[in-house]
Amino acid sequence: MATTPDARPERGRARENQVQTIFSEIAPRYDLLNHVLSLNIDRRWRRKAVGLLALPGDRPAVVLDACAGTYDLSLELNRRKDFRGQIVASDFARPMLVEGRGKLDQAPIRPICADTLRLPFPDQAFDAAMVAFGVRNLSDVDAGFREFARVLRPGGRLVVLEFTTPPRTLMRWGYHFYFHRVLPVIGRIVSGHPWAYTYLPESVKEFPGPDALLEKLEDAGFASAEWNYLTGGIAAIHVATR
Ligand SMILES: C[S@@+](CC[C@H](N)C(=O)[O-])C[C@H]1O[C@@H](n2cnc3c(N)ncnc32)[C@H](O)[C@@H]1O
Repeated sequence: MATTPDARPERGRARENQVQTIFSEIAPRYDLLNHVLSLNIDRRWRRKAVGLLALPGDRPAVVLDACAGTYDLSLELNRRKDFRGQIVASDFARPMLVEGRGKLDQAPIRPICADTLRLPFPDQAFDAAMVAFGVRNLSDVDAGFREFARVLRPGGRLVVLEFTTPPRTLMRWGYHFYFHRVLPVIGRIVSGHPWAYTYLPESVKEFPGPDALLEKLEDAGFASAEWNYLTGGIAAIHVATR
């Protein structure tokens, strides 16, 4: 499928505008498309991600969900029986936060409209931080990781869930067919947005692989970091300790 020029990931400020515009425009259809296009596998991935947070057991935790969108990761954490504390859910596309508000009910989730590259929180404000399908969209991933390192207390964990490219040939073939041929078409029809779901595979294509991402986490000041593939390498989870 030909890539429209608009769908190519931009650089710097232009990228921030591009991403903010995309998610603001697709917000009303985001949840539906998320679960349909991922065949609901995303729920399992998020469950796994929140299970890796290693929260303090002796007091309520304060957790950051950055690039929180419509709060699915925050809600997954709040669903855990052993979770006590507060989740701060930040995103710079206000329509995403507004769209998801109906799902919050009485959950201890505080939405904040903020840029992940310039988090409005003091140093060491959080016991743990998490981000799902967000870092790929940052105009500067290194600066994003440095922000996470800054707002985490020593010993706090960062869990990053992100798409990646499967390492094995057959799975990679299937992935390419689905991500580049099927997903943009369904995405265009359901969201009504001409190229948002073409941007998605384009952004995965140019995103650093799991080993390179691990190096970036270490460069940003995380003491230990490791990663694992999910579902044959369609996605990966990185866990890093401050
Ligand atoms: C693919 S959605 C993921 C939403 C949610 N985490 C989830 O798992 O469904 C990516 C989100 O990241 C947000 N985002 C991207 N770059 C951002 C930035 N620099 N600051 C804050 N939010 C950002 C977008 O607005 C969007 O809501």
